Amino acid sequence: MTDLRSKLLVTRTLPQLSQARLDKGFEGVDIVQWKEDCAIPRQEFLKLAKGADGILCLLTDKIDAELLDAAGPQLKVVSTMSVGYDHVTVSELEARKIALGITSGVLTEATADTTALLVLSAARRLREGVDAVIQGKWGAWSPTWLLGSQLTDKTVGIVGLGRIGVAVAKRLKAFGVKKFVYQGTRPKKEVEKEVGGEIEFVDMDRLLKESDVICVCCALTDKTKNMFDYEAFSKMKDSVVFVNTARGGIVDQDGLIRALREGKLGSVGLDVTVPEPLPTDSELLTFPNCIVLPHIGSGTLETRTAMSEIAIENVLSGIKGERLPHPHDA
Ligand code: DGY
Repeated sequence: MTDLRSKLLVTRTLPQLSQARLDKGFEGVDIVQWKEDCAIPRQEFLKLAKGADGILCLLTDKIDAELLDAAGPQLKVVSTMSVGYDHVTVSELEARKIALGITSGVLTEATADTTALLVLSAARRLREGVDAVIQGKWGAWSPTWLLGSQLTDKTVGIVGLGRIGVAVAKRLKAFGVKKFVYQGTRPKKEVEKEVGGEIEFVDMDRLLKESDVICVCCALTDKTKNMFDYEAFSKMKDSVVFVNTARGGIVDQDGLIRALREGKLGSVGLDVTVPEPLPTDSELLTFPNCIVLPHIGSGTLETRTAMSEIAIENVLSGIKGERLPHPHDA
């Protein structure tokens, strides 16, 4: 007798609404879920994946040949609760005809909010200000103390002008930015309309040299890995505000630390690092002009719920052999 039931592996507890759906269950589907308050350990992942028809995973779960072998040939779909999928070896999935779903679209606004938050926080020296208050270093109001920079009439460079990059530009425009320069594949005419202001496609060298603020909004790929190295930082203005909310691997962190050590950068805001979590003894945390957040770009209840709902829809469609509502290659 053939087994008509499907197995779904979910690698973490989901936001409340989606978790309630999982707890109620889906007809014909046996759900196995890692519910500890930590990422699923690799050995456990390999073990639980065995026999799965669908896997709902996170960006912390490496999906490679070893995992797919452990799962077995019945695996139809991997649905990651993230828009980034650099943790997935796509070629292996393609070779095995396994569908890959992502949570495109729904985290644009939250991630752009976090990017704008980091730009302003870094530019206005938020960390130093908060530390000064807490440490009793707040003296009488001073005309010269803790002076930051503002966005009025500045040039902002955006690397990766996709949905999130455009949403960042729209937000920063409201703070008086004069001009945007960008790296990305979308035609100027199209993005100009969306951003609603002056925007120019430039080569990387010009972007590095002319930008007062640089926002990294591109995906991590072989091409973008370590793209921001010491040499790139050396080309930037020494007052630059550098913000990365995409993936830590796009920045060569040793190069960044060296540039910070040598005072080559105005201020830095990071929501992503290598590794994550960043060890508390990382030199990166010693620079007062560097603010590090714990990868919370999409971290609102609304967005995380929308992401987990999409991840469920993707995995259920894949298990049924249907087209995914949010495939990675749409
Ligand atoms: C993603 O989805 O790729 C983000 O980094 C997490 O929100």
